[in-house]
Amino acid sequence: MRLMTPWCSFLVFFFLLPVRDIASGAVHNITPSEPLCQNQTLVSSGQIFELGFFTSNGSENQYVGRWYKNLTPSRIVWVANRDSPLASADQSAKLTIGSDGNLKLVDGQQNIVWSTNVSVKSNYTAAMLSDGGNFVLKDKNSTEVWASFDDPTDTILPNMKIGLNTRTGERRVLVSWKNDNDPSKFHHWDYSETPPQLFTWNGRSSYWRGGPWDKSTFIGIPDMDSSYYSGYTLQQDPQQGTTYFSCASDNNSYLAYASISPGGILAIMIWDYGSNSWSKPWASPSNSCGVYGTCGPFGVCNSINSPICRCIKGFMPRSKEEWNRGNWTRGCIREAELSCQKNTSRTPSTQVKKDVFVHMNQMKVPDSAEYLSDINDVGGCQSQCMNNCSCLAYSYVHTIGCLVWAKDLIDFQEFSTAGQDVYIRVAHDNTGMSTVAKLIISISTILGLMFEGTAIFSLWKWRASKRGEMSPGNAWKDQLKQDEASEFTLFSFSSLLLATNNFDATNKLGQGGFGPVYKGMLNDGKEIAVKRLSSSSGQGMEEFKNEIVLISKLQHRNLVRLKGFCIEGEEKILVYEYLSNKSLDSFLFDSKRKAELNWDTRFRIIQGIASGLLYLHRNSYVRVIHRDLKASNILLDEKMNPKISDFGLARIFEGTQALLNTHKVVGTLIRHGGIFSEKSVVYSFGVLLLEIITGEKNTSLYYHGQHFNLLSYAWQLWSEDRGPNLRDEDIVNTCPP
Ligand SMILES: *[C@@H]1O[C@H](CO)[C@@H](O)[C@H](O)[C@H]1NC(C)=O
Ligand SMILES: *[C@@H]1O[C@H](CO)[C@@H](O)[C@H](O)[C@H]1NC(C)=O
Ligand SMILES: *[C@@H]1O[C@H](CO)[C@@H](O)[C@H](O)[C@H]1NC(C)=O
Ligand SMILES: *[C@@H]1O[C@H](CO)[C@@H](O)[C@H](O)[C@H]1NC(C)=O
Ligand SMILES: *[C@@H]1O[C@H](CO)[C@@H](O)[C@H](O)[C@H]1NC(C)=O
Ligand SMILES: *[C@@H]1O[C@H](CO)[C@@H](O)[C@H](O)[C@H]1NC(C)=O
Ligand SMILES: *[C@@H]1O[C@H](CO)[C@@H](O)[C@H](O)[C@H]1NC(C)=O
Ligand SMILES: *[C@@H]1O[C@H](CO)[C@@H](O)[C@H](O)[C@H]1NC(C)=O
Ligand SMILES: *[C@@H]1O[C@H](CO)[C@@H](O)[C@H](O)[C@H]1NC(C)=O
Ligand SMILES: *[C@@H]1O[C@H](CO)[C@@H](O)[C@H](O)[C@H]1NC(C)=O
Ligand SMILES: *[C@@H]1O[C@H](CO)[C@@H](O)[C@H](O)[C@H]1NC(C)=O
Repeated sequence: MRLMTPWCSFLVFFFLLPVRDIASGAVHNITPSEPLCQNQTLVSSGQIFELGFFTSNGSENQYVGRWYKNLTPSRIVWVANRDSPLASADQSAKLTIGSDGNLKLVDGQQNIVWSTNVSVKSNYTAAMLSDGGNFVLKDKNSTEVWASFDDPTDTILPNMKIGLNTRTGERRVLVSWKNDNDPSKFHHWDYSETPPQLFTWNGRSSYWRGGPWDKSTFIGIPDMDSSYYSGYTLQQDPQQGTTYFSCASDNNSYLAYASISPGGILAIMIWDYGSNSWSKPWASPSNSCGVYGTCGPFGVCNSINSPICRCIKGFMPRSKEEWNRGNWTRGCIREAELSCQKNTSRTPSTQVKKDVFVHMNQMKVPDSAEYLSDINDVGGCQSQCMNNCSCLAYSYVHTIGCLVWAKDLIDFQEFSTAGQDVYIRVAHDNTGMSTVAKLIISISTILGLMFEGTAIFSLWKWRASKRGEMSPGNAWKDQLKQDEASEFTLFSFSSLLLATNNFDATNKLGQGGFGPVYKGMLNDGKEIAVKRLSSSSGQGMEEFKNEIVLISKLQHRNLVRLKGFCIEGEEKILVYEYLSNKSLDSFLFDSKRKAELNWDTRFRIIQGIASGLLYLHRNSYVRVIHRDLKASNILLDEKMNPKISDFGLARIFEGTQALLNTHKVVGTLIRHGGIFSEKSVVYSFGVLLLEIITGEKNTSLYYHGQHFNLLSYAWQLWSEDRGPNLRDEDIVNTCPP
């Protein structure tokens, strides 16, 4: 196989140390009168990054680059003149600011080797290095006119964006060094068009594919969500035509980067202050299955099988010999022609058995999907595909919608966690199952998928391209239409009076922290939950509206959806989606109903809550600290999917300066001092977890003749090596110790 040993090819990076023995002076900026000479380096104010001249090991070439200042092994994260090296013998090269205000790298003969080439209005500029690693050129007014973050090499640092702008044609990609000593271009990291996918290319051919972005992760990266360091976001701005991917970091409390190696391995590296070395929590491709198209068209890769490749059910190797030799690149072909492709004038149509779909789960969906925007349930997706002979497979991804494939299924991989359900069209005779069995399988899997057609986030909804013209470039542009935040509504007070029967007591669902909640029904029959806020502190209308709009943009399958609001006179009302199964506490703490929650359901609820919190803390663009996470704030939809409610309410309701700066509040957990942080949320989540496992409230429990609260009770059992006894009696049978 093509794949080299990934760890080795990556680690060799670190032998590349900048040669700085000649450098003696550290400076903090470059100005027209003070260029950076070879014997100097530019250092960021917090001494984290350093920029200067370096010569790679054994090479004749000299470059200007930037690296971590005090780390050994260090790491070069950016190179200015990767394509136009200076001779290493050149002792008088300088990085200067020219008369046009641009940064210029000039060699000993005063030739310009590299330049920033921007138009600067004032003739005075200065260049400096930030502690985040950005090398910026600023004009007289301290306005940034150029930034190295806009011109990445092979490394993405926190808060740096890569992606593309379809308006300007700008592509900001990572391109690896050619080899460990030569930073000129080789592999690069890129996006495909629609839906956005992450790609590694080797020259012009795909080398690795991250799969479509599902609004919080890439489908082809099953471990992405579970990583603590996943402050990843993919932001699309349809008006600007931009798609950018970035990793957020509030501050420089940890050093991390992602980069692409000469061998084509994309990896995340984090500096471990404990062992004073780089650790690599993630790298891809990490095995042959990750390499694009290893198993060829209609082949499926599973890295834990041997051999790793097999044909999809109903397909056979195109060439048995090659396949058995372990050369799978030519893939598989159908065992039998599809009935929809048969020439029906020869076979009486009554004898033609309809094609069926083979179901595969936990899949990395194949490449070259088409997105059908006008279909928003799995049944519609299936029938669309069934009724169109060109459709070879479909998959309904809740957070995206209906994906169909009309081209050969390539780069199809099976995971042991995460992944999506994919249905592949095969001829009837091929599946080796009786009709009855097939029917049961398709029905049960479809039922399993049918929830939450409406949870598709409208904000980032991908638009279908005009069917037929699938040139990716055009498709992408077509999709970048202004999208609907329009489902978000301003309700009139009278319509809400009508919907809730004048806030009738029989409609009351509960009393939340900020006011009562009522069930309501709109004219069109849609059910809503109406939260009537108690008369508030003297917060301004504008602030209130701004906060609501901000919060309404937080959309995730595990957050209760804010549908709109109403402000009239003294009334301030929030309108949410209505969830039929009420809150988690109504099951958990009800001696009869708690039996309906078996361990599987509870575990799914736990995962859902965690996923919602991860979104609020790491993946949304406004950070929200939930101040009151508890069982009564976890609502359940008709399929028992958990949705966090009341997030952001404190923010909407109070809107004080302190809260506006919530994401700046970091540090220790001070529960009684009223300072809330991610840590206090994680703590509350822990308490909630214990409640879900034990089915007990965090109140007094009686044990060994003593009263304990839930936490000390759990600790007590744990200390006595009796942890499994924590399990609720109703789940001991379904929950393995
Ligand atoms: C430099 O290259 C030589 C030969 O290529 C090698 O033996 C040596 O280990 C390298 N040194 C470093 C620091 O990479
Ligand atoms: C650095 O080198 C320049 C010439 O390239 C020389 O003028 C300057 O004095 C040197 N500075 C230091 C601190 O050695
Ligand atoms: C920059 O502007 C100042 C005053 O505006 C002028 O004196 C100076 O000559 C200019 N410098 C260059 C290099 O154009
Ligand atoms: C500088 O930019 C202009 C226009 O953007 C372009 O025509 C020119 O070739 C660039 N020069 C260099 C040296 O890149
Ligand atoms: C700098 O600021 C001054 C006054 O604030 C303004 O007149 C001038 O246009 C600005 N220059 C640039 C290059 O932005
Ligand atoms: C960065 O965040 C960490 C914890 O998240 C905190 O301990 C540290 O003080 C912060 N540093 C700065 C400079 O804000
Ligand atoms: C695998 O098969 C393809 C197509 O038949 C051929 O081009 C390629 O060289 C083969 N690779 C190996 C390693 O044998
Ligand atoms: C279908 O079969 C009929 C009769 O054998 C033949 O005339 C016709 O050309 C065939 N059509 C196609 C599309 O192959
Ligand atoms: C059938 O599917 C293909 C591929 O997706 C598409 O180009 C074609 O327009 C579809 N035909 C109909 C009738 O929907
Ligand atoms: C959840 O709600 C649905 C619809 O209201 C209902 O059919 C189902 O029984 C409820 N689930 C449980 C476990 O009560
Ligand atoms: C749990 O209950 C104990 C005792 O009632 C209380 O001290 C503690 O603060 C509670 N913890 C949480 C997270 O509610």
